[in-house]
Amino acid sequence: MDYKRYIAQKLCIEGVSAEETAELIATPPDPAMGDYALPCFKFAKLLKKSPAAIAADLAARFQRDDVVTDVSAVNGYLNFRVDRKSFADAALMQILAQGEAYGGSDIGAGKTVCIDYSSVNIAKPFHIGHLSTTVLGGALYRIYRFLGYRAVGINHLGDYGTQFGKLIAAYKHWGSREEVEKGGIHAVNDLYVRFNNEADEAMEAEAREYFRLIESGDKEANALFDWFKSLTLAYVQTIYDRLHIRFDSYAGERFYTDKMAPVVEELRQKGLLKESNGAQIVDLEPYGMPPCLILRSDGASLYATRDLAAAIYRKKTYDFCKCLYVVAYQQNLHFQQVFKVLELMGYAWAKDLVHVAYGMVSLEDGAMSTRKGKVVWLEDVISRCVERAREILEEKNPALENKDAVAETVGVGAVVFGALCNNKIKDITFSYDKALNFDGETSVYVQYTCARAASVLNKAQTEGLAGGAAPAAVGDAEFELVKLLAEFPAAVLQAAERYEPSIISRFCLDAAKLYNKFYLDCKILQAEGEVRAFRLSLTQAALTVLKTGLGLLGIGVPEKM
Ligand code: ARG
Repeated sequence: MDYKRYIAQKLCIEGVSAEETAELIATPPDPAMGDYALPCFKFAKLLKKSPAAIAADLAARFQRDDVVTDVSAVNGYLNFRVDRKSFADAALMQILAQGEAYGGSDIGAGKTVCIDYSSVNIAKPFHIGHLSTTVLGGALYRIYRFLGYRAVGINHLGDYGTQFGKLIAAYKHWGSREEVEKGGIHAVNDLYVRFNNEADEAMEAEAREYFRLIESGDKEANALFDWFKSLTLAYVQTIYDRLHIRFDSYAGERFYTDKMAPVVEELRQKGLLKESNGAQIVDLEPYGMPPCLILRSDGASLYATRDLAAAIYRKKTYDFCKCLYVVAYQQNLHFQQVFKVLELMGYAWAKDLVHVAYGMVSLEDGAMSTRKGKVVWLEDVISRCVERAREILEEKNPALENKDAVAETVGVGAVVFGALCNNKIKDITFSYDKALNFDGETSVYVQYTCARAASVLNKAQTEGLAGGAAPAAVGDAEFELVKLLAEFPAAVLQAAERYEPSIISRFCLDAAKLYNKFYLDCKILQAEGEVRAFRLSLTQAALTVLKTGLGLLGIGVPEKM
């Protein structure tokens, strides 16, 4: 049960929806004040009364019941007390009955969300800059599915542009099939880098010609391009597998080659296209933005042109209720422009396009040497983190079985969590030591807590685990934990509404902390009778919620650590 909503509905404040009220209800910093609190300051203007008077009024009117047993007005706040036993019984029953499904819902049934994420560039490094888009998008994908939506994961491949002409020219001059087969994506990238460093005017001209050949469907040029593309995709797939990332579509920029002309025509017919120095643009000055470039003076399309075609195609194909673009904030202007142009074209659904922007990820200075110049390949970061995890596990628990598998789960988890534990718009400096700190705000800490809970349950199992109702007196540590677990569904919902998986990361950290507090404060296995049964149920519930939470982020949980 969602107690905040329950209280909000009972309060029934004039002119304020139960949802709005529920959003304002919080947990007081000091449990002595109450179990829930509602600040009344925001209602003062609407109700033309002082917060203190509003709180006093609401308190006087509130019907106490078996669940919410007490309410008091203090300094403009309403403080509520709930009955711990009935609260714990209801919450645990729900969590244990729903198991892995707890926290999910079907509010998204019949609705589709498109999520454009990771969107790699063919023949270019898959680097640390792709971490956030990949794991943020992956988390949103799972969160929306958990809420009953159909999620369509789209990898909008960067597979269009003059760089592919350059790549072919470089390959023709310096490359060999053997070398590329052996070196894979890294060899391809080397060729591209070498072109940028060494190409002269003649080679640039060749590159332009190769690009033209790709465009005009030339067999050999396209075969080479397809080869580079399949190398890149096979390579990134190995990383997606490790990160548990999947896509439903790899329709990239090239896919829109034949879908741009109709869009340009539509822009023209709608009177939106203007000529400017030979180029075709949509003027966005009235909206305080630079013009959106549609066609260059040589007739070539641009990144924005392909995004316009892609948005229209996605709406037609998937009929989304929302289309998310998980792309770094550097592209803020690009998306504002594209969304504005679609709005000007008269598409009401332009309001359903959301740029989910995030900050930069960098590595702590000197934390690693890169294989290739300045670029930090994501693969290297993951592998290094897994190696470090392996060393730490070796040290902490030499007898651990399946160390390699556990190290993979722990190391990958640390990289993922590193990108998802803070508000997404913040810039992040990734540190191996911090990310793998067993006592820090880390996935390892949460995973370790899960292993601890699992081990308690394992030991108890031999004597039979009784699904236990709460005893008459529920202690502070027990109550705090169960109260937080009851808020998990609301946290999932909020993470989706705000496109903010960090809400779930934070939730997992808080729940793990409270579980550990409970574990240290209360005897579990040594307790007796109904108290023991209740504490085991609480342990089971905490483990279930933590596993689900980490799972939504794309992080696994080893059974033992
Ligand atoms: N490949 C692009 C880049 O690396 C990101 C594409 C994002 N998606 C989109 N529909 N524009 O910058």
